[in-house]
Amino acid sequence: MKPAQIRKDIYWVGAIDWSLRNFHGYTTSRGSTYNAFLVMDEKITLIDTVKNNFKEEMIERISRIVDPAKIDYVISNHVEPDHSGSIPEVMKYCPNAKIVTSAPQGVKGLKAHYGDYNYMPVKGGDSLNIGKHTFQFVQTPMVHWPDNMVTYCPEEKILFSNDAFGQHFASSGRFDIEEDLSIILEEAQKYYANIVMPYSQQAAGAYEVVKTLDIDMIAPSHGIIWTKNIPDILDKYAQWTSGKVEEKAIVVFDSMWHSTERMANAVVQGFIDKKIPVKFYDLKENHRSDIITEVLTSKYIAVGSPTLNNNMLPTVAAFLVYLKGLTPKDRKAFAFGSYGWGGQSIAQVEEQLKECGYDIILDKIRLQYFPTQQQLDEITEKVAAAL
Ligand code: FEO
Repeated sequence: MKPAQIRKDIYWVGAIDWSLRNFHGYTTSRGSTYNAFLVMDEKITLIDTVKNNFKEEMIERISRIVDPAKIDYVISNHVEPDHSGSIPEVMKYCPNAKIVTSAPQGVKGLKAHYGDYNYMPVKGGDSLNIGKHTFQFVQTPMVHWPDNMVTYCPEEKILFSNDAFGQHFASSGRFDIEEDLSIILEEAQKYYANIVMPYSQQAAGAYEVVKTLDIDMIAPSHGIIWTKNIPDILDKYAQWTSGKVEEKAIVVFDSMWHSTERMANAVVQGFIDKKIPVKFYDLKENHRSDIITEVLTSKYIAVGSPTLNNNMLPTVAAFLVYLKGLTPKDRKAFAFGSYGWGGQSIAQVEEQLKECGYDIILDKIRLQYFPTQQQLDEITEKVAAAL
C-alpha cells in the first residue's frame, strides 16, 4: 500500500474502495475513494482520514513516509464517517495531535462520534501555519453537513475541498488527466445530484468563495484530483449550483402489464415531436440515483404509475419521495398511468409532483386497461401541445 506523491511534500494517503456499490442508497457502480493527504513540514499535518474499514491501509501508507506518532495536526474538514471514521485509529498513534475542525459544528459532531480529543476549533478566515505551508479555512456549511469546511493552501494553490467537486469513482490514477474526462464529469454530476443538490443555495455561496481563490489543484475527498480540467468542473458547478436546467425531459414510470409502459412511450413521442431530448426510465430497470442525475439538468419530468391496491406502485412512490427530498426546483411536470378500476394512482402522482412545487403543464392522463393505438396517439398529441 504505497502513498502517491501529489506535490513535493504532499502525499495522497487515502484508500480506494473498488467494490463499493451502495453509498446509503446511491448506487456507486464505479466504486469510490476516500482521499486523505499528508503534508510534510515543520508540523506534520494529515488532512482528513478514510472510512473506518480502510484505517490500516491509511496508516500503512502514512508509515511509508513518516512515523504516524509524529503527526502534529489532523485537519477534519467533515464529520461524516467516510472521512472522519479513522480519526480514533490515527489518535492511537499521536494522542497529543490537535484535531483542527470547524467551530462549533465540527467539534460538536466529532465529539458526538468519537469523544474528547484535543480539538482546535477554527472559523472561516482563520489560518494555520505549519512551516512552509499555511492552511486557510473556509466554512461551507451543508456542503454536505452543517460542519463542512474546505482547506486552502496558498503556497501550493491547492484547495482540499472535501465533498465538494468529488465523485464516487475508484481508479488507479489519482489525477483527472489520467482518466476519461467524460466519465469523471458524469460521476461528478451524479455525486452533485444525489448528495449536494438539496444544499445548492449553500453550495452556490461556497462556489463564489472558491472562485476568488488562486487554484492549481482541487483535491476533493472522493475520486480524482482536478488539475488540467479545473475550468470544466468549475463550469459544471456554476450550472448545477445555479439550478439552471436545459430544454430536455425525463419520463419515469413503472408498469405491471405494459399499459403504463405503452403510455410512457407515447409521452416520449410527444417530446420527440417537439424536438426536445428525452430519456425513458423504467423503474424496474433503472436506479433512482441514476435518474436523479438526469433530473439535475432536465426541465420536464413526466411520472407514470398504474394503480395497485388503490395506490401508486411502491417503486414510483420511492422515486417521488427521493425526488422530493432532493428538492430540484422550477420543473415542469405531469402524471400519467393506466388502471383497471379505481385508478387512484395517477392523482396521487400528480399530487406528489405538486408538492415538489412543480408547474403541472398537463392534467393527469388516465387510461383504463390496455390503451389502443388511437388513445396513444392522442397522448402524444396532448403532450406535444402542452410543451
Ligand atoms: Fe463524503 Fe458527506 O461525506
